[in-house]
This record gives sequence, structure tokens and C-alpha cells, in this order.
Amino acid sequence: MADKEIMRGLKDVYIDTSEASFVDGQVGKLLYRGYNIHDLAEKSTFEEVIHLLLYAGLPRKDQLAELDATLRANREIPDEVVQVLRLVKDSHPMDALRTGVSALAAFDPEVDDNSPEATVRKGLRLTAQGPTVVAAHHRIRNGNEPVGPNADLNHAGNFLYMLSGAVPDEETQRLMDVDFILHAEHSSNASSFGARVTASTLSDLHSAIVTGIGVLKGPWHGGAAEAVMKMAQDIGQPENAEEYARKLLDSGGRIMGFGHRVYKAEDPRARHLRTRSQELGEKMGEPHWFQILRYMEEKVMVPYRSKGIYVNVDFFAGSIYHLLGIPEDLFIPIFALGRIPGWTLQCIEQYENNILMRPLLDYTGAMDLEYVPIEQRG
Ligand code: SDX
Repeated sequence: MADKEIMRGLKDVYIDTSEASFVDGQVGKLLYRGYNIHDLAEKSTFEEVIHLLLYAGLPRKDQLAELDATLRANREIPDEVVQVLRLVKDSHPMDALRTGVSALAAFDPEVDDNSPEATVRKGLRLTAQGPTVVAAHHRIRNGNEPVGPNADLNHAGNFLYMLSGAVPDEETQRLMDVDFILHAEHSSNASSFGARVTASTLSDLHSAIVTGIGVLKGPWHGGAAEAVMKMAQDIGQPENAEEYARKLLDSGGRIMGFGHRVYKAEDPRARHLRTRSQELGEKMGEPHWFQILRYMEEKVMVPYRSKGIYVNVDFFAGSIYHLLGIPEDLFIPIFALGRIPGWTLQCIEQYENNILMRPLLDYTGAMDLEYVPIEQRG
């Protein structure tokens, strides 16, 4: 047979068309439904971006108010789901989120309805409930009772409130809001692709989101932010960065938060977290985290730019969460909470023009062996 062209990792393979987001990896450009991430990060809100993604347009004031009210009205989770979270209180928060979404499926009246309208409604409910699942598990694992949602706060502010029990200041709310915007959607990344594969069998949105959570957890995808902060803590001070990185790279290791399958220039999302990491570090009297990361970026990793390896969205995110007092193992769940609207939109697109995702493997094993009964196998 003619040599088969094997595209490992599906590198450079287009699987479909999409109107969700445009990513130009050569110049580092990202658009959500046509709008530049730089405008969205600095001028919009996560609620606006959710509307943009799920309703294909920026909202008028009345539409934004309706979406905001829908999110606030759907933040509660059933007591049964809280009980499940108590049973898994010692699990990693990503496992708790995955388990919580699975449990929520049992209480969603539209779980098996894959129509665009129902999928949007379920996506909004999961976007609203996700923070409640993560925060409730976090409170329970620390021996505290969950803090119920605060309908007076926006999505980002309410998440932080449910984590700590204290209403965050405006600046902190805005930090988390921008972070959710930056993580909301990113074309066919591994977790969105996994969600699409799930939807392509006509399985339900809850199952697709569970797939996305499981895929995102890996350190080569969403898990990088947690790994970057652990690296920064291992380095300790800026002057140690060079030796640390040299040892890691010379041993064939990778600097987490750098490199990207598509971006061969700076990830356009990184700049919005870089400036906020520096400002927050100075405000909190802990500038050395940013200094360590900046030294890594501006000194150690410069030679890698010739290979198209630049900082990505995960590199500075962890330092911001750390400075906000958020433990490392909540970094990936925060990424997941931001990505729920993107996963939902990718599933809607898949359902609307579905085709089963079923690639091939080129078999290189033995052929046509004779079956030998066990008595004769020596
Ligand atoms: C996200 O896809 C998305 O859109 C994801 C995401 C989203 O919004 O959903 O943008 C979010 O996941 C960002 C990426 C977070 N992951 C990390 O930061 C983990 C560290 N980075 C990598 O391991 C790596 O860069 C990948 C996995 C992200 C991408 O790798 P590729 O495209 O598969 O490239 P590769 O593994 O084949 O590496 C090519 C070369 C190799 O060297 P050679 O074998 O050719 O000599 O680049 C080197 C790699 O060793 N390399 C790195 C490196 N990343 C790649 N070397 C050092 N440090 C790194 N971080």
C-alpha cells in the first residue's frame, strides 16, 4: 500500500471550519468571533465574552443584563453534589471539578438534549455552577463549610468570595475577570478537541465538559500554570534562575509556560498577565516572583525564540494566583472555569454539522498468526 502520511499529534491538521476563534501562530494573534483578545482583555468582561461566544455577538445592555441574571440565578449546586464533594474531599481540585460536573449531569433536566438552544442553556448553567463546585470542594477539604453564592457579585468576584468567604476588592475581582476572559476559548486545543470528539458521537455536553477537564489537567496543557509556580518556588530568587533552567534544559526537561503547538511568536494573552503580575507583585511587596519569571523570559529563554518557543498564557498566570493567596492546585481549575464557554461553543459547532471523529492508526504489528492452544504453548 502507498506510504501513509502519519500526522502525529495531528500537527497542522485541520479537522473542520469554526467561527469560534482565529489563532495566527506566526504573528501571535487571537480573535474571539472576530474581536481581538487585546480589546476584549482590556475593555470587556467575562460575562460579555460569554455572550459573544455563545450568542455570536457582543451583547446590548439588556442582553448582558439578562445573561448576567441567568448566571447569578444558576450558581447554586444541589446538596447531593455537595455530598459527593465531601466524599472526594482529599482529591485534586481538578478531579473534584470533573466529579462535580459528572454529578451535576444527574440533576440537569436537559442533560440529553443536544439542541443548540439546550446546549447554550446547559453551558451557561455549568459556567455558573463550576465556580461553586471548585469553591465548595476547597472549603470542605480545609475543614470549612461551603460559602453560598453572593448574587451581588459578578462571576469572578463571586468565585473569589466563595473561596475565601470575604468579598474581594474591585481590583482583585477585575484581575480574575481578565483571567477568565483570556482563558475562555482557543480553537482546537487538546481539551476542546477532546470535547469535540465526545460531541461527535452525539454524547451529551456534560460528558464533553468532563472530557475537557480530564484533558486540560495534563501539565503539557492546562497544568502548566501550576508547574510554573512550583518552578518559581524552587528557583527562590532571580539570581538562581539561570542555573536552574540550565540544569533542567540540559537534562532534556522543559520550561513550563513556554512553547506552544500553534504560537511561534509570543502568545498574545501573555502580555495581559505579565503587566498584572508585575503590578500585583509590587503592590503586595513580593516583586521577586515576577523578577524570577521575567529573568527566565528575558535572559534564559531568549535563545529558544529562534525555535519558535515563546512564553504562553500559562507563564505569568500562576504568579498572579499565588499573590492572591490561591493555592497552586487551584490554578488548573481556574483555567477550566474560564474555558467552559469555549468548550460549550465547540460542542455546539460540532453538533450543528456533525461527523464522527475517527482517525486511523497505521498497524505495524504481526499479521495472520496461527492460534496455538494453551496446551501446546510450552
Ligand atoms: C496551553 O493548544 C492550545 O491552544 C493550548 C492553550 C489553550 O488556550 O488551550 O493555548 C493553553 O496549553 C498552553 C501550553 C501550556 N503548556 C506548557 O507550557 C508546557 C510546556 N510546553 C511544551 O511541552 C510544548 O511547548 C507544547 C506541548 C505546549 C507544544 O509542543 P509541540 O508543539 O508538540 O512541540 P514539541 O513538543 O515537538 O517541541 C518542539 C521542540 C522540541 O525540541 P527538539 O526535540 O525539536 O529539539 O521544542 C522543544 C522540544 O523539546 N520545546 C521546549 C519547550 N517546548 C517545546 N523546550 C524547552 N521548554 C519548552 N517549554
